[in-house]
Amino acid sequence: MSQPDIVVKPRDVMPEGARTLPARYYTDPSLFRAEMDRLFGRMWVCAGRSEQAGRPGQFFVREINGRNIVVTRSASGTLRAFHNVCRHRGTRICSEEVGQFAGSIRCPYHAWTYDLDGRLIGAPHMEEVPHFDKAEYPLLAVDADEWDGHVFVTLRDNPPPLRAQLGDLCAKFRDWRMQDLRLGRRIVYDVRANWKLIIQNYNECLHCPNLHPALNKLSHYLSGENEPLRPTYMGGRMDLRPGVETLSMDGSCPRAFLPGLSPEDRRRVYYYAIFPNMLLSLHPDYMLVHSLWPMAPDRTVNICEWHFQPSELARERFNPSDCVDFWDLTNRQDWHVCELSQAGISSPAYVPGPYSNREDLLYAFDRFIVEFHQRSSA
Ligand code: FES
Ligand SMILES: [Fe+2]
Repeated sequence: MSQPDIVVKPRDVMPEGARTLPARYYTDPSLFRAEMDRLFGRMWVCAGRSEQAGRPGQFFVREINGRNIVVTRSASGTLRAFHNVCRHRGTRICSEEVGQFAGSIRCPYHAWTYDLDGRLIGAPHMEEVPHFDKAEYPLLAVDADEWDGHVFVTLRDNPPPLRAQLGDLCAKFRDWRMQDLRLGRRIVYDVRANWKLIIQNYNECLHCPNLHPALNKLSHYLSGENEPLRPTYMGGRMDLRPGVETLSMDGSCPRAFLPGLSPEDRRRVYYYAIFPNMLLSLHPDYMLVHSLWPMAPDRTVNICEWHFQPSELARERFNPSDCVDFWDLTNRQDWHVCELSQAGISSPAYVPGPYSNREDLLYAFDRFIVEFHQRSSA
């Protein structure tokens, strides 16, 4: 494969003396708690895909900031989310992570039964209770919404619309028709690192030649460009090298490109971190989505999914291993350095280090986090 001409523009976008964050941002349980309560507990969080609650009663469960949430679809086709807590004596109703309700939601303890909109429709032995009114005991609802096949949930009361958090992304990625794509493969990683280190690593390409020689062979690490940090997301694109069709083990693409993409977008991969927990990587022929689930200051579960066109999934010999193996290899390399970063930052010897001018998104993200903590402790 021939090397493209990469025009490396000098950058001087960083304030002098820009340094990485103090260790406590990655290790302190009280800062972690504040991020869970005020970021994960208030923003729209990427919870899954519409197809996981595609039919009425089909459900999946997510744990968000200590709340177990059931996402399902009502009989009329509306996405619904509820706290997984029975209104009788508080029992967790749904103990499966995914499944199908048979028309209603029934608590396993005393059989209080709710319809798919959360209304209590059956409460055995409550008939004689004076003034008991089923209408007063619906499942506790949580706001849920969809963006082109992605399900988002927010724990906030009276939240702003999801569209307000996504901003320009709705228009920007319309051509990928993400709502048409379906899951082909899922791998769950348990990473011993703070969630912010994973976001930072995702938005930084300086490590690619060193850490990801296979990726750098397909897409030059200084190609493409970043957008400036937006209030709720950050990202940019990288260009495929000449002759490379997609990010796969050998750079060839055994699938049809996504319909609707411009010739330019067929030559690019877009990488966007949508705060607080979604990493969206759009390729010419598939979509890679990571959702981050912080478990502790130094531990993050990362659900990684590859999504494809249904026509490709339906092919008798559909085999996504070319791109799954490629990203699984790359992911593991990334998680390894994230874990090494966490380990080093946790050492008493760590002191913040200087950023290069090409780490501007990371510095901007740090400012976002520092200002968030300043606001939340004010
Ligand atoms: S706790 Fe659910 S029916 Fe009693
Ligand atoms: Fe990487």
